[in-house]
Amino acid sequence: MTNKYMYFIANWKMFGGLKSINSLHKVVKFFKNFKKNKSIKIIYCPPSTLIRPMSKKLVNSKIEVGAQNCHEHETFGAFTGSINSMMLRSVGAKYIILGHSENRQSGETDKLINLKIKSALKSGLKVIFCIGETLKEKRKKITKQVLNKQINLGLNKINNKNNVIVAYEPVWSIGTGLIPKNNELYEIINFIKKKTKKNKILYGGSVNAKNIEQLKSINNLDGYLIGGASQDPKKFIDIIKKTYN
Ligand code: PGA
Repeated sequence: MTNKYMYFIANWKMFGGLKSINSLHKVVKFFKNFKKNKSIKIIYCPPSTLIRPMSKKLVNSKIEVGAQNCHEHETFGAFTGSINSMMLRSVGAKYIILGHSENRQSGETDKLINLKIKSALKSGLKVIFCIGETLKEKRKKITKQVLNKQINLGLNKINNKNNVIVAYEPVWSIGTGLIPKNNELYEIINFIKKKTKKNKILYGGSVNAKNIEQLKSINNLDGYLIGGASQDPKKFIDIIKKTYN
């Protein structure tokens, strides 16, 4: 491991109600007793409706809470149905996922993502900035060009990059059970590391308790962004445990 912390970020997407929070006591208990807990950061990113109750549940647990998206406007405004980064911060979010491919696919542009990142950083949130190529782009062998563009535009004129974590999530691996080959992933992570200089780089896309055995041998990674498997505390705990044994 090249860095101080390994990140395990749970992306709950549009799943979970108040009852789902109850199961977190298992993760809290596990984390408290886990020997490596000083070198791990666990961050739960639930739907916005759960940020407040989840933050309360996790108080004193060293597990942090994040949001999944925000409106780019920095202050209050007439934007029906939207929530900005300052509002998310005020209910307990410390992190925010931005640029997720599920939002890019529904029309989020690099420019818009850049505005969102700027507003989130201003509000004091740490940003988990997602980038990744589609299957078509991978087949055309233009992955690096795609990532290059996403990084250049997404992080354009952002000075405090220390608070930006990059999550490489190939679109074709999200929710499909497919993951990149180790050598490909290693090379891409190195490429992103060189390009962004100091950023921490995570991998996301179908991470589970089985393929973590393969993924953990990629030693330039700083952690994982975990979707489906993060909703089940047992699976999530298994992923963390297996990363270290
Ligand atoms: P997945 O999702 O682990 O279910 O593939 C990852 C993500 O979309 O962040």
